[in-house]
Amino acid sequence: MIRPLDPGARLRAAASLVRWGSAAADIGCDHGKLAVHLIESGRCPSVVAADLRPGPLRGAQALAAARGLADRIDCRLGGGLSVLAPGEVCDLVIAGMGGLTIAGIIADALWVRDARYNLVLLPASGAADLRRWLAENGFEIREELPVVEAGHCYSAMRAAYTGRPVQPTALFCLLGLLRGQRSPAAAACFAAAAHRLEQQLQGRRRAGESDLFALEALLAQVREEMSGCQE
Ligand SMILES: C[S@@+](CC[C@H](N)C(=O)[O-])C[C@H]1O[C@@H](n2cnc3c(N)ncnc32)[C@H](O)[C@@H]1O
Repeated sequence: MIRPLDPGARLRAAASLVRWGSAAADIGCDHGKLAVHLIESGRCPSVVAADLRPGPLRGAQALAAARGLADRIDCRLGGGLSVLAPGEVCDLVIAGMGGLTIAGIIADALWVRDARYNLVLLPASGAADLRRWLAENGFEIREELPVVEAGHCYSAMRAAYTGRPVQPTALFCLLGLLRGQRSPAAAACFAAAAHRLEQQLQGRRRAGESDLFALEALLAQVREEMSGCQE
């Protein structure tokens, strides 16, 4: 028997937010490792693996065949959620793209505005933009897991539609449900967020801006989260 494939910490975190026993879709599957992991771990009976580009999709097809899973991983070529019929699968993973690209994919499929869908989202960058868009468009983030892989910090999120838009705070956009978490991965994410804010502040001070109270207050809140991790 071949050893189960390890997709790495980032995709393991995304997989852990998929509901046990659900058929899932991996949008932007590229190499296809997540689809293979979802099946080999026993979490999903089948997975639709989709990508916009034929090259990556061929890679996913080859991996599925090499792992003996060609009959359980359905590889589809196409953009965003257009590869799926509404209701076909209820666990939808979109990982490894920018936050606004992920938001655009969700926005283009009005049928996911339905509480039965579990959206598992793992932005490669722009997590704050994605959190803002979700909140403003009636999606609620239910869980977030901090992940560190190859020196980069990510957040794996699980969200669902509630139909109740809210105006999120700047701190929520920046940290989401990572706030209050205490772990080495959370500490690394807070440190990365603080570093980005410090750089923004430096740039704006150099540009001669003086009205920086809101940004300074945000940085103080992020530093407080960091120090909470050290206690
Ligand atoms: C950086 S890879 C991420 C692969 C994998 N999801 C991961 O997180 O490791 C992004 C993949 O998404 C695909 N992609 C980009 N935009 C897409 C879209 N709108 N619909 C489907 N796939 C898309 C790209 O072709 C590429 O293969």
